[in-house]
Amino acid sequence: MANDFKKRLKRTAVLSLVALVIGSGIGVYQIANRNSVVVEKAGRPAAMAGGQQVGGSFTLTDHNGKAISSEDFSGQYKLIYFGFTSCPAICPTELQKITAVMKELPVQTAEKIQPLFITVDPERDTAEVLKNYVSLFHPRLIGLTGSQEEIDTVLAAYHVYASKVQEEGMSDYTMDHSSFIYLTDPDNKLITLYRIQDTVVHMTRDIQARVAAAH
Ligand code: NI
Repeated sequence: MANDFKKRLKRTAVLSLVALVIGSGIGVYQIANRNSVVVEKAGRPAAMAGGQQVGGSFTLTDHNGKAISSEDFSGQYKLIYFGFTSCPAICPTELQKITAVMKELPVQTAEKIQPLFITVDPERDTAEVLKNYVSLFHPRLIGLTGSQEEIDTVLAAYHVYASKVQEEGMSDYTMDHSSFIYLTDPDNKLITLYRIQDTVVHMTRDIQARVAAAH
């Protein structure tokens, strides 16, 4: 009897160890996966490497509740940021950067550029919410929202990663999302992306050179 018990105990211990190894294996795998998303976010969207077209026309609703299409900004370049109004840190920082760049650019260049903020969280970011939010940044910044389907279409076209995250102990969800500032030409084709680490000075010089080069 005592031997039997020992055997059982041993087997339980072995099984626990196996479970532990599998468990931590899954943990490591999840961490690795999470890191790959971060790497992708810090670098360029994966699809860009494949030479796939990024960008394109869209029809959404502006912060005044009016339907607006990318073709309504005829002849203008666009500086686009995708984010959400309840974002605690990255979104306001990047929108502040766009505001600073628009102010730093020579007037003739700035006039050719339309800054846009497209929400990745249309469920909470209604036109009204966006209107209040964009007023904190550049006076020409336009906030855009739409139905979930409309937003999903634009996110896919621009290869934006966005995902709802419900953190434990938090009453409301947050959004995990990629963070790039897109510069597109008047035909809504991507010219370049600016990353979190790109400074106002770098962006201003780069945009100036690219927009001037187009003439
Ligand atoms: Ni954000």
